[in-house]
Amino acid sequence: FQYQKGVKHMYENGIEHVPNKYILPASERPNVVINSEKSSHVPQIINVQLPIIDFAQLQGPNRTEVLESLSYACQNYGFFQLVNHGIPDEIMNEMVNVSKRFFEMPFSEREKYMSTDMSSPVRYGTSFNQTNDGVFCWRDFLKLSCHPLPETLPYWPTSPLDFRQLAVTYAKENKYLFLMLVEAILESLGLKNKEKKTKLVAKNDDDENNDDDDDDDDYIEEILKEFEDGSQLMVVNCYPPCPEPDLTLGMPPHSDYGFLTLLQQDEVKGLQIQHQDKWVTIQPIPGSFVVNVGDHLEIFSNGKYKSVLHRVLVNSMKHRISVASLHSLPFANTVRPSPKLIDETNPRLYKDTDFASFLQYVKSCDSTKKNFIESRK
Ligand code: SIN
Ligand code: FE2
Repeated sequence: FQYQKGVKHMYENGIEHVPNKYILPASERPNVVINSEKSSHVPQIINVQLPIIDFAQLQGPNRTEVLESLSYACQNYGFFQLVNHGIPDEIMNEMVNVSKRFFEMPFSEREKYMSTDMSSPVRYGTSFNQTNDGVFCWRDFLKLSCHPLPETLPYWPTSPLDFRQLAVTYAKENKYLFLMLVEAILESLGLKNKEKKTKLVAKNDDDENNDDDDDDDDYIEEILKEFEDGSQLMVVNCYPPCPEPDLTLGMPPHSDYGFLTLLQQDEVKGLQIQHQDKWVTIQPIPGSFVVNVGDHLEIFSNGKYKSVLHRVLVNSMKHRISVASLHSLPFANTVRPSPKLIDETNPRLYKDTDFASFLQYVKSCDSTKKNFIESRK
């Protein structure tokens, strides 16, 4: 099976047609209009500008307005572009650059990291979920587990020579940024942070609600603590040029399992999200992150923030590289709606869930999990 070696390998061997294994049923191909009575093949290219969140502004006097934009984006798009995030351009560029160099190595070198074991700290693979996928997708990937680093790092690739060092720096910066974002997200959901509390206490010395504030404060701290020890996966994706890009996808429609994903894409378009019942293409902004709400955050917010379906298109001309950092709670923890966001007017919408039941779910159906959230309500 040539395709077991991945799409980069096939591309290097000059493949001229997409093998049957990759050909989607007509109704699932990229140019089909969704949710229309008669699915038509009229190509529709809709480019959207996602809401832009300026991370530097979040730290300044405009925090309240930025938090409102953040909340708007998470409710209406499930996605936003994060600019001025503070990770130096050099670290961002080097990560994409070393990823390109990884995939340019001979197959014999990449193959060393191939594994179908989902729990392996490093896994080179192809498609989406190679062992389950009925139809394969046009993507090779390197998946690195980043937590706990001292345990996983010894398994990471040692070639290119600077891979480990660059990837570790990127992963650490990413985790720090993620934790700052969690704090902002909690605040955007109306859960208080320290700063607010201090202001409140300063204003009302004898405020009888001080106990509540302390509770809220502990609550935020507890959540942040949980995330400090949370799982972090880095997925480096490579989408080589595809001879027949209308017949297949780089990634099938899916939502992300965790709390937040921070995606760096290179300058080549490909990512689409479902927005107002249409597939819309995200314009890459160099040096930014595309951040999206994962299933955990949808559940935690009791449905206020949306974990939105997205997919990846391929093209016949250019390689595309992306680096996705997926952050979630520790795998052993239970995910549930925040009790502070549930009351008489906002009844609880989701059952408790955990990673084990998620894996069970994934095993029981095809690789994409379009209906995962629906099934847990
Ligand atoms: C994803 O991780 O779902 C999208 C990755 C990409 O844009 O390549
Ligand atoms: Fe995704």
